[in-house]
Amino acid sequence: MKQHTIPTPQFVQFELPAASVVHAELLAGLRETPPRIAPKFLYDALGSRLFDAITDLPEYYPTRTEASIFARHGTDMARHVPEGAVIIDLGAGSCEKAARLFPVLQPAAYVPVDISVDYLRDTLAALQQRHPDLPMLGLGMDFSQRFALGATAGRWLHDRALTDQPRCVFYPGSSIGNFMPDEALALLCQAHEVCAAGGPGSGLLIGVDRVKPREVLEPAYDDALGVTAAFNRNLLLHVNRLLGADFAPAAWHHVGLFNAELSRIEMHLQARGPQTVRWPGGERHFAAGERLHTENSYKWEPQAFQVLLQEAGFGEARHWTDEQGWFSVFWAPA
Ligand code: AVI
Repeated sequence: MKQHTIPTPQFVQFELPAASVVHAELLAGLRETPPRIAPKFLYDALGSRLFDAITDLPEYYPTRTEASIFARHGTDMARHVPEGAVIIDLGAGSCEKAARLFPVLQPAAYVPVDISVDYLRDTLAALQQRHPDLPMLGLGMDFSQRFALGATAGRWLHDRALTDQPRCVFYPGSSIGNFMPDEALALLCQAHEVCAAGGPGSGLLIGVDRVKPREVLEPAYDDALGVTAAFNRNLLLHVNRLLGADFAPAAWHHVGLFNAELSRIEMHLQARGPQTVRWPGGERHFAAGERLHTENSYKWEPQAFQVLLQEAGFGEARHWTDEQGWFSVFWAPA
């Protein structure tokens, strides 16, 4: 019987920030008024599992709604996203969302990107078994700081004669909403550069959550089971490990509210009582009721997002939505 050897996916890890850089970033945020901690610190191993649980909650509509848009309009999307593209999947995690699109998009290669290749190793090995002929390269990089494929990935594409294939940068889940508008623009500009370096037909396929009534938005970020509250408080345990601090999660109350003026959900942790948090070489006092800002989740009107895409250099975008107009998936040609 003929033996078919399944290729192993390749991995490239970009340098992770040094502990001193992480400390400096955390301390700068804790010293601000009001204090803040960046949302990336929500995602340690437990935080990532809690986020997965959030996506199963009845109140958290984005994941389910986006999946319904892909299921309903995937074939139409494939008329615009070119066949034989290199799919570059930002924040790939379990790689599930992209893998579901392989049958309709028929990619030539798959390049998932996540902060650490350790998150990608097992998933990508399993995915390679299911798609033995699809070249796969896992990239470990903090693309929120700077997104570019880099020389090693460039060589990998070159060695497989994929340099001139169209590229599809795939950024689902409305994670773009976790950036301030100016940061979102910077990331979209970098995504445009990555697309523009590919063959004709390249573009960005991106999921964006839309403005909707407060009665729908707020429960999605403050659910009845308290999973989002646990996700938010777990950030304190993560910071304790990184900084050697002594935050007591039970002393903080989860707040998830819609700021209509800024069109964003804000997550905060509110001190239940006065308290002093200590770490080696420093401390900070928090008054009762004082808030620590942990995340924004911007909700975009489609027209405003089209403008942002144009500012980033993309051509005229089209988008698909669900029956309630809660979420949009945009295809923006480079
Ligand atoms: C990852 N990101 C798109 C989620 C969101 O909806 O902004 C993170 C999240 N925060 C609380 N619940 C989910």
